[in-house]
Order: sequence, then C-alpha cells, then structure tokens
Amino acid sequence: MAHLIDQLGTKVTLPQLDWEYNALEPYISGKINEIHHQKHHLTYVNGYNAAIEQLLSAKANDDIKKTIETQQNIKFHGGGHINHALFWKSLLPEKQGGGQPPSENSALGKQIKAQYGSIDKLIGITNAKLAGIQGSGWAFIVKNVEAGNIIEVVTTPNQDTVTSPFVPLVAIDAWEHAYYLQYQNVKADYFKAIWHVINWKEAEKRYGN
Ligand SMILES: [Fe+2]
Repeated sequence: MAHLIDQLGTKVTLPQLDWEYNALEPYISGKINEIHHQKHHLTYVNGYNAAIEQLLSAKANDDIKKTIETQQNIKFHGGGHINHALFWKSLLPEKQGGGQPPSENSALGKQIKAQYGSIDKLIGITNAKLAGIQGSGWAFIVKNVEAGNIIEVVTTPNQDTVTSPFVPLVAIDAWEHAYYLQYQNVKADYFKAIWHVINWKEAEKRYGN
C-alpha cells in the first residue's frame, strides 16, 4: 500500500547547506558538520516523516488513541528538523561575514543597543543560558512579537522548538553531538567559539524592519 504521506506530498527533506562542511573551521570542524547534518539532522527528517505517516494512518482509521500517541514523536522529530534547519542558517563562514555583529543602523542593531547596550552583553547572557542547560537542549535569541518586538534569550530542553509569540533569530545547538568530537567536555569553549560564525545578517532579516 502506498504511504499516505507520499500521496499528500507532505514529506520533508534534508535541506542543503549554504556552505561546505569545513567552512566553519577552526570553530566547528568539518567532521562535526558532516555527521551533524548527514546523520543527526537526517534522523529527525526521517523520524518526522514516519511520525506524520503514523498520524495520517491513525486518523484514516479513526483511531484517536493512536493519534494521541504520535504527538510526542511529531514534537521531537519535527522540532529536531526545524531547529537544525534554523541552526544551519544561523551559521556563516567567517570569510563570508560570519561573526560580524548586526549593523548599528539595522532595526536589530538598534534594538540590541537599546536593550543590552552592546552585542557582547547579549552574547554573554546567551552563553550563560547555554551553560545552564542541563542535558540536551537549545538556546534561541528571539523576538517577542507580543511584547513590542523585544529581544529575549530562551532555552528549550531536548528538541523543543520556540513557538508564538517568539520568532527565532539565532538558534544554537547545545546537544553534545554538536561539539563533542572537537571540544569534548569543554562545552564552554564551543559556546565561546560559535560566535565567530554566527550569521547576524540572517538574524537581521528575521527581525525585520
Ligand atoms: Fe544537533
């Protein structure tokens, strides 16, 4: 029997990266990016498609209990997929402008200055929040659209993603698989290094005018 998800054409796929795996060196090794993208991210893509197939089939059979049972996998793998897609867009090789702070004339640059005084202050707060994550999780620099577009830093456990009223601007993966091959137990060094390749141009775009 053909899969319902194929009939509906709603399968998600692994996005291509905008840069080569080794383009973030020395801050993030090519090997980490390769495994992270081809193995870890792909697992979430496949897991999400499988969970949606289960959901469609449960609904087609009017099986409410099975429909409910699919929710956790949808949340975990769906979150894993969109968090990683956002993570890749949050990173830019140094040579292409990665790590360059938002322009002072941009809406984002102005808002950071007004709220935090400097980009370094916002980075320091984000690093403190990253250090505080117990186990696996994410940190996001977000815009809060219900609070006058102020910028906040939020963390989530596991693969939980950020939803309304937050619009994510920058996503940082704090799972061990994101740094262990290169930084082992010293995750603070990974959190320090990653700012050299953060894509603030993308964050400016996401923040809007
Ligand atoms: Fe990851």
